[in-house]
Amino acid sequence: MRVLVLGSGGREHALAWAIARSPLVDEVICAPGNGGIAGDFRVLPLDLSDHVAVLELVKREGVQLVVIGPEDPLVAGLADSLGEAGVAVFGPSAEAAQLEGSKRFAKEFMERHGIPTAAHRAFCDAASAESYVRELAGPCVVKADGLAAGKGVAVCAKTAEALSAIREMMQERRFGDSGDSVVIEERLVGDEVSYYAICDGERFVCLAAAQDHKRALDGDLGENTGGMGAYSPTPVVDAELEREIVEQVVRPTVDGMRSEGRPFRGVLYVGLMISDGKPYVIEFNVRFGDPETQVLMFRMESDLMPLLLGAAEGRLPEGEVGLDFGPPAVCVAMASEGYPRSYEKGREITGLAEVAELPDVKVFHAGTRREGNRIETAGGRVLGVTARAVTIADATSRAYDAVERIHFDGAQFRSDIAKRALAETAS
Ligand code: AMP
Ligand code: GLY
Repeated sequence: MRVLVLGSGGREHALAWAIARSPLVDEVICAPGNGGIAGDFRVLPLDLSDHVAVLELVKREGVQLVVIGPEDPLVAGLADSLGEAGVAVFGPSAEAAQLEGSKRFAKEFMERHGIPTAAHRAFCDAASAESYVRELAGPCVVKADGLAAGKGVAVCAKTAEALSAIREMMQERRFGDSGDSVVIEERLVGDEVSYYAICDGERFVCLAAAQDHKRALDGDLGENTGGMGAYSPTPVVDAELEREIVEQVVRPTVDGMRSEGRPFRGVLYVGLMISDGKPYVIEFNVRFGDPETQVLMFRMESDLMPLLLGAAEGRLPEGEVGLDFGPPAVCVAMASEGYPRSYEKGREITGLAEVAELPDVKVFHAGTRREGNRIETAGGRVLGVTARAVTIADATSRAYDAVERIHFDGAQFRSDIAKRALAETAS
């Protein structure tokens, strides 16, 4: 088969890498890809918002399965356009993508189906939103309803912070139309984890849990980012908690979406807060996480393709599927100086060839480009340096050993990825 992976991040590099290992696959093509993806696969230029161009490429290249990486094209209906043209596609319809595309839809859906989540209220006008946070008079979370590249959430300790978040979203329109309505919810405390299941509209196959590190600096300080590192599995989720996540969240979500006439096909990524040992949904995403995918794919021994095809064609197997996940994996993101704010591009990256020789290490590229023989920075998050080993401690030191051998001016990375897991395993 010939498979097309759409997107240009570390997530897409990891997906393409996993797909290419399948005996079912002859060739993986990526569009638009990045400098590192271009080193491993054929890449083609493409504007993902141009559905006609995507379809033309699919026909011209004889692609048999399209895997859509990021959320924007899903919310914009790319899976619908391809599906209507008879193309097999991994990724939900626009209607099903509302689980991520509208926080308000997601919250009301969870209420309708009894899925545990923080109490919330939704507002379309700033004055009512403001009087509600005054009433709460304490910690809360203010969220822009629509997509905001992961930045439309303000976790507020005090009323004044919540008031300024409302102003920024609704009056100053920092996120454009995405802030026309806001959701205000109770602030949860606990451990955050990500959980993944591949769904075909009716059935689902569970992958695994992972933990992301969203803040820019060590000790979970600094600004929120797309994710500075991840590891899997996580000691936060044991077998009992995993069962609860599946029965209280994944199953009612898949059943609820089907019963509401918007069956969910694709990967359901549940962002959870584990509070007093119980799972609460913070958010749904309708695509793979980045950088969680890097560790999940590096761990997974089973063939990913039957799952992607099963979801695309509505024929995942019934009942438990014993997927084979290998030993732990850790991913450390190396980012440009200044990220998540403004940063320069075009800095040369060295050390990649040396690291490519290391066993059980893979560098998934995010914001990189190729200029002749040289690889240079081209984005905020630049590389996802990923390693696996028999223990999480060994995987972590292997990843950091590789990070130390890679250089670009101003490179920043966290030095405490997987520390939480290391502390638990030591105790
Ligand atoms: P989201 O974009 O919804 O994932 O939110 C971004 C981050 O805000 C999450 O990863 C959490 O760290 C935090 N967050 C979101 N909702 C809540 C909540 N109800 N309570 C506490 N923290 C939250
Ligand atoms: N790692 C967070 C995300 O992919 O949204």
